[in-house]
Amino acid sequence: MSQIGIFFGGKDNGSTAKVARKIQELFGDQATVHNVSSAARQDVEKYDFLILGTAAWGIGEMHSDWERFIDKLVESDLADKKVALFGLGDQKIYPESFVDGMGTIFCRLPHKENVIGYTSTRGYNFYYSTAEKEGKFVGLAIDDDTQKEFTDKRISDWVKQIRAEANI
Ligand SMILES: Cc1cc2nc3c(=O)[nH]c(=O)nc-3n(C[C@H](O)[C@H](O)[C@H](O)COP(=O)(O)O)c2cc1C
Repeated sequence: MSQIGIFFGGKDNGSTAKVARKIQELFGDQATVHNVSSAARQDVEKYDFLILGTAAWGIGEMHSDWERFIDKLVESDLADKKVALFGLGDQKIYPESFVDGMGTIFCRLPHKENVIGYTSTRGYNFYYSTAEKEGKFVGLAIDDDTQKEFTDKRISDWVKQIRAEANI
């Protein structure tokens, strides 16, 4: 049975979609991937656990499809749902807004206490990120542009971490 909804914003052939699919593969039948461009509020409501992902765009922005979807998300009853976040970015070209799209999703969540899967900022080189809170990223940070070689391990370590934290 699918209990985990993975929602990403971006092109189906983009890096964010690729990361979403890798996370899904590691969870197997437990997880289903949705592109937010065609997702509805009912899709959010059927899961106990949501994994939300976006690349960073513009100045601290989420992907534009998320700008349209985020209201549907936050109008859903999220009080009893666990949430984990992943964000993509480029720390060399955008070191002052690294993975800020993930920070924006976090900022909009009404129940921040339900967020699991925080990760260390060690191994990244950036000046500022809205996705960093008290020295940690609020989710998984992926830089597939300049640190592609770490992507697979970062994803698999994080999936192990959230399995342990969520007991799934
Ligand atoms: C116009 C533009 C703006 C971007 N702004 C940021 C940014 O502010 N911070 C950041 O970390 N990455 C930024 N990026 C990098 C993307 O987030 C990164 O390349 C990401 O992997 C793209 O994912 P996608 O293939 O799913 O679109 C930007 C890229 C572009 C093209």
